[in-house]
Amino acid sequence: MFGSKTVEKFREIETPFYYYDLALLRQTLDIYTKELKKHNYHAHYALKANANSKILSIVKSYGLGADCVSGNEVKLALNSGFDPSMVVYAGVGKSDKEIKIALEGDIFSFNCESIPEIQIIDQLAGSMGKRASISLRINPDIDAHTHKYITTGRSQDKFGISHWMFDDVIQTLNSCSNIHFAGLHFHVGSQITDYNVFSMLSKRINEIVARFEEKGMRVENINLGGGLGIDYDDPDANPISDFASYFSIINKNLRQESYQQVHFEPGRAIIGQCGSLITRVLYVKLGKGRKFAILDAGMNDLIRPALYQAVHKIENLTSSGRLMRYDVVGPICESSDRFAKNLLIPETSRGDIFAIRSAGAYGQVMAMRYNQKDLAPEYYSE
Ligand code: LLP
Repeated sequence: MFGSKTVEKFREIETPFYYYDLALLRQTLDIYTKELKKHNYHAHYALKANANSKILSIVKSYGLGADCVSGNEVKLALNSGFDPSMVVYAGVGKSDKEIKIALEGDIFSFNCESIPEIQIIDQLAGSMGKRASISLRINPDIDAHTHKYITTGRSQDKFGISHWMFDDVIQTLNSCSNIHFAGLHFHVGSQITDYNVFSMLSKRINEIVARFEEKGMRVENINLGGGLGIDYDDPDANPISDFASYFSIINKNLRQESYQQVHFEPGRAIIGQCGSLITRVLYVKLGKGRKFAILDAGMNDLIRPALYQAVHKIENLTSSGRLMRYDVVGPICESSDRFAKNLLIPETSRGDIFAIRSAGAYGQVMAMRYNQKDLAPEYYSE
């Protein structure tokens, strides 16, 4: 929801642009860290959701670490002042160059996804006179019941190490002299709204931790990854995810010994609701049995609807006319460049300003310059 003063400001700015509500970000982080501390858990913000420098500096000021998935994200986290002892680095395809960046930075943990990766990290660490701290990313074979492109923890997915590899991976770890085994890592998907997934995951983790400990591998760190969803349908009713229930479900189901630390990697649930893509209507065009509202923002700015059939709430901020139906589309030369089909919104015309809500996570970071479009700039509520 935007006040009239904010909408007046939007009118003066060239569109499209991303707009971030920093007060909401702080409120979200206040609640998140309060609930986290209740259970003495640790969090590493997933930079991939939004790596904008202003946002990183606010997130860092709440004491969160960083979850990275590339050498450049590791560099960015370290250059942004995140404590190396709170930086984790995951990804199925870490290049030698990227591994060296992380070794140089003395990060807390590589989240390793395969035996050959562990062997390469061991070799590179040895050649640099370092000891790499690694956790194993486990594939727990759990369906997160989310979009197929953002489900990561089923046995057919490319992520993590499956149970039939456990003995081999333990043997590998025992034969690597430049590696310290830090613990186990899990991330089963994103935009998870069914909390049963987290209780199932916790119970599965108990079994897997026990299996590793029976084999003499002390699991000091258990990392449950990210994945908590947000309310895309009604961001004003639910601007902040239910962190209290999330952590208490995990606390109830996950076994934790006194020597074990529990970690999380939230992305979307921290920054998703804080961002909107602000755009203007360029033209209203009549099609066969429909009207198109053609925006100046497209899939190049926000690819989620085209890629995951994601539905973001769209508001016409400058018209209160009678409700009419439109296909809301972008200017890009692709039929998938559509934000909504048959959407009921106040009657629109050229120049109206629309807000595409809940675009703070996986919005700006996934933007591209297809059709040689400029990247949308960002503005802040402060
Ligand atoms: N940890 C790992 C290892 C991850 O791969 C991810 C997200 C996260 C944490 C953070 O997950 P979150 O809390 O944000 O759900 N582009 C997609 C989402 C891809 C998520 C990739 N991994 C989208 O727009 O929905």
